Amino acid sequence: MTIARGHLELLGLERPDSHDLAVALDELTRIDRIINRLLLLAKSERPDFLVTDDIDVEAFVEDVFMRWSDVAPRVWRLGPIPRGHLAADEEALRTALDALLENAVKHTEPRETIELRARAAGRELVLEVVDGGHGIPPEAVDRIFDRFARADDARNRAAGGAGLGLAIVDAIARAHGGSCTVRPLPRGVLFALRLPGFELERRSLADLSPAQQPA
Ligand SMILES: Nc1ncnc2c1ncn2[C@@H]1O[C@H](COP(=O)(O)OP(=O)(O)O)[C@@H](O)[C@H]1O
Ligand SMILES: [Mg+2]
Repeated sequence: MTIARGHLELLGLERPDSHDLAVALDELTRIDRIINRLLLLAKSERPDFLVTDDIDVEAFVEDVFMRWSDVAPRVWRLGPIPRGHLAADEEALRTALDALLENAVKHTEPRETIELRARAAGRELVLEVVDGGHGIPPEAVDRIFDRFARADDARNRAAGGAGLGLAIVDAIARAHGGSCTVRPLPRGVLFALRLPGFELERRSLADLSPAQQPA
């Protein structure tokens, strides 16, 4: 893959305007992504798949949000985020959120909203990606987490997806002992990633306003 790409890029130096070369490079990128996703899915079944980190939830969610809102022109919203720490694999979670946000971008227009937010549910952290796009047909909801499943083949062939993104999100959630669910909205969809191992931060005295400080 790397060698093929190297040769194509060399040819591109000689012929910078070649449409055929651009198509070939795009196609290589697409195949590369599919291979990486298949490898990740295969690995997700191994017991040593996860490396548990102590994640500062606020910093993590803000960082993911900044990266995406910088690259894709949408009406981005960063919702509330509870302060606290999550025992989870940071790289895997980033991969899962990236797959959800990539889908949100793919299925919205620039004037439509994408919100990333989080909430605590006891010892669980619920990460939510909400978009105001065209949504998912109700009959497709049950199968979109399956490998290679796509709700709309015509749309997705053009968009180049292989139908592995949500299978990966699901595998990552399960490996953590959590889950990923989808809820169609009147306009768009809500994906919720539930993860155990959340420790809500008790507000330190320094965070309280003078009126709230104990006498
Ligand atoms: N935010 C979304 N809005 C509408 N449809 C979605 C959204 N996210 C996922 N889908 C549907 O679920 C299918 C599976 O998603 P995914 O597993 O990421 O595969 P891919 O993005 O490669 O098609 C998509 O093809 C699409 O039909
Ligand atoms: Mg996808």
